[in-house]
Amino acid sequence: MTRPLPVVFAETDLDALATVPGRIAVIIPPEGKLDAGARRINRMTRGALARLIEAAALNDRKPGDVITINWPAGMAAEAVDVVILPRSASPAESRRAGVSLGRIKGDKPLLILGGALRRPVDVILGALLRSYEFNTHKTPPKTTKDKAEPGALTLMTGKPDEVRAESAPVLALAEGVFFTRDLVSEPANHLTTTEFANRIAAMQDLGLKITILEEKDMEKLGMGAILSVGHGSASPSKLAVMEWLGGPKGEAPLALIGKGVVFDTGGISLKPAAGMEEMTMDMGGAGVVAGVMRTLALRKAKANVVGLVGIVENMPSDRATRPGDVVTSMKGDTIEVINTDAEGRLVLADVMWYAQETYKPRGMIDLATLTGACIVALGHENAAVLSNDDGLCNAFLRAAKTEGEGAWRLPLGQGYADIIKSQIADVKNSGGRPAGTITAAEFLHRFVQDGMPWVHLDIAGVASVKADTTYAPKGATGWGVLALNRLVADLLEER
Ligand code: BES
Ligand code: MN
Ligand code: ZN
Repeated sequence: MTRPLPVVFAETDLDALATVPGRIAVIIPPEGKLDAGARRINRMTRGALARLIEAAALNDRKPGDVITINWPAGMAAEAVDVVILPRSASPAESRRAGVSLGRIKGDKPLLILGGALRRPVDVILGALLRSYEFNTHKTPPKTTKDKAEPGALTLMTGKPDEVRAESAPVLALAEGVFFTRDLVSEPANHLTTTEFANRIAAMQDLGLKITILEEKDMEKLGMGAILSVGHGSASPSKLAVMEWLGGPKGEAPLALIGKGVVFDTGGISLKPAAGMEEMTMDMGGAGVVAGVMRTLALRKAKANVVGLVGIVENMPSDRATRPGDVVTSMKGDTIEVINTDAEGRLVLADVMWYAQETYKPRGMIDLATLTGACIVALGHENAAVLSNDDGLCNAFLRAAKTEGEGAWRLPLGQGYADIIKSQIADVKNSGGRPAGTITAAEFLHRFVQDGMPWVHLDIAGVASVKADTTYAPKGATGWGVLALNRLVADLLEER
């Protein structure tokens, strides 16, 4: 598993700066006033910082920007990274500063002179999230020198013990996000259904209660919808349940549900070859649920949350479900499978029903890379949010906004539900192109019990992106781990 950089909290020691290897980051407010640490760097570099300020290099710079002085005189470090950040920096600006540092850090150790930082924890989070790299399948360089683990992130501060304690939940968050990104990045021949379930089961060691339902268990429960998706694959379908009960005994949990299609060929309704390799991320919803549960366990959240993910592979074969087949869900509704590529909703239908029957949750949030139509509507900036409950929905939107994760609500409505009426069954699994994201959500809506607050998040456009995003290099983003972790804190832990 890809680990976040090690973080060291050290007492401020300006005399040590001359011999520190790697990079040193120094914080300067936009008006250019130097604090004690910056003055020391300025003196060692024979006035480099003062010249930088005189040259009006700070003009037009935004909070969180970094100006690098390479190979500075007077010190062992390879670079001084000058971080422009006002004393009153917001959490977002502080994270941005961390992101700038994380992007340029590389494998060298980085020491942040944090004396002037009001929000060191946000800077650390930004740096950790942005320094992610998925290297699992790259042959490591031959020389032992290059093979060395990436250098640590050291924060020099006047109160290391205090900042270390404040940082613990943020390190848990970074671990959760990395766990999600690794799962989403992992190719489908490595992240098989069995391997996915194994990685979830290993979280038992963190105090989560894990249950894995196998195909025979799901058959007994009448889960004909999820089972129909995995039928064509040699890899067995699974339903993995992660329970974290850190809140009041007996209090109904929040349920998080994830689509975990380890690979989506489309099945008999086979997808075109171009871009099919991207469907290795079709377990992104389940990946986010697993990452959130990891974070909650690591930071010992005082909340009851249960994560349930349907893990399947959608393959064509002589056993695969055919277009036109009718399957029966655990709820009892019959479904006409118009298109075997609209498989995610079949997975979620049974997992959502099972979650409600088993846990009587206080609310339910599902995540899925569900529709290409979502990318047409919102691109890679926002996930689609659809909900039957303004309270839960607005709480989520607020959490997402605070964390800088794009989310935009789309409507539900009977007119959309009518589009997926079937001639021969209770519902069909595809309504064609118009409002594809909404008709998919209306399909799921059928499997939400009366009075159950429910939010559906279509993350098709945000789970994995071909360009750098705010907190991530290109590739898997881990979108949603931050927002859901905050939602749990806001909704369940603030009492
Ligand atoms: N996993 C796809 C949706 C998807 C597309 C996610 C692109 C990420 C990027 C989903 O299973 C799918 O194939 N949906 C179909 C539904 C249609 C057949 C009703 C789609 O969007 O085309
Ligand atoms: Mn599909
Ligand atoms: Zn899919």
